Amino acid sequence: MIQFDFTGKTVLITGGSRGIGKSCAQLFAGANANVVITYKSAKAEAEKIVRELGTPGLHAAFALDVAQPSMIESVWQKILQQYNSIDILVNNAGIFTEHKILETDFRRWQDAWQQTLATNLVGVSNLCFFAARHMKEKGGGKIVNISSRGAFRGEPDHPAYGASKAGLNAMSQSLAIALAPHNISVGVIAPGFVETDMAKEYLEGEEGERIKRQSPLNRVASPEEVARAVAVFASNGTEFMTGGIIDVNGASYLRS
Ligand SMILES: NC(=O)c1ccc[n+]([C@@H]2O[C@H](COP(=O)([O-])OP(=O)(O)OC[C@H]3O[C@@H](n4cnc5c(N)ncnc54)[C@H](OP(=O)(O)O)[C@@H]3O)[C@@H](O)[C@H]2O)c1
Repeated sequence: MIQFDFTGKTVLITGGSRGIGKSCAQLFAGANANVVITYKSAKAEAEKIVRELGTPGLHAAFALDVAQPSMIESVWQKILQQYNSIDILVNNAGIFTEHKILETDFRRWQDAWQQTLATNLVGVSNLCFFAARHMKEKGGGKIVNISSRGAFRGEPDHPAYGASKAGLNAMSQSLAIALAPHNISVGVIAPGFVETDMAKEYLEGEEGERIKRQSPLNRVASPEEVARAVAVFASNGTEFMTGGIIDVNGASYLRS
C-alpha cells in the first residue's frame, strides 16, 4: 500500500460526511494532516467522523451548502481563522439526481439542472475562487476536483450530472493553466461507479451485477481506492500532474 505523508498540511474536503469524502478524511488524517470536512445536512455523522479521526481539536466539521455562494465565503473565512492555512482543497461534494428527459416534467427538469449545476460545478468554482487567492498568497497549494466517468461516457438518465462533470473537467483544466505560475496545481479524479450511498440504489438494484461487469475486475471501486488517487495528486512531488484527469474506473471505460 502507498504510504502518504501530509504532516503539517491542512486539507479541506467538501462532502466529508460519508462516501468518498469520508474515506479521504480518514486517509489524510492517517497521514498526519489536519482535516476539515464539510457536510450539507448530516451534522451528527460528520461530527462522529471527526471524533473517530482522533486527536481532539485537530480536525473539524463545518456545515456548508456549496450551492450557496454567500455561505462558501463565510465558512471559508471561519476555517481560515481556525487553521490559518488551507493547503489542499478536495472538491468532493456532489449530487446525482435522476431526470430522464422523456419522463420528467418541465419543472422537475429545470430543478434538476439548477441544483446539479449549482452544486457540482458552480459551487466548485466558488471554492476555487477563494482557494486560488489564499494559495497564491501563501505560495502554492493543491486543488483536487472529483469528477466522473459520466463526463465522457454520457449519463442518459442524469444529463445534468454528465454536463456538470464535463464542465468541471474543462474548468479544472483552465484553472490549472491560470494557476500554475503561482505553484497551485489543479487536478481531477474521474471515478466510475463507487460503493457509496450515491450509487447504492443502482448497485443493489437489478442492474447491479451488470454494472459490476462493466469492469474486467467484475466490481466497482471502493471509496478508499478513490481517496488514494486523490492523495497521489495532493502529495508533494506530483505537481507536473496538474491539469490531468485521472480515471479510477477499473478499465470499465477507456477514453482515447
Ligand atoms: N458514488 C459514485 O458511484 C460516484 C461515481 C463517480 C463520481 N462520484 C463523485 O464523487 C463525489 C462524492 O460522491 P459519493 O458517492 O461519496 O456521494 P455521497 O455518498 O452521496 O455523499 C455526498 C456528499 O456530498 C455532500 N453534499 C451533497 N450536496 C451538498 C451540497 N449542496 N453542499 C455540500 N455538501 C453536499 C453530502 O453531505 P450530506 O451527507 O450532509 O448530505 C455528502 O457528504 C461526488 O462529486 C460524485 O459526483 C461518485
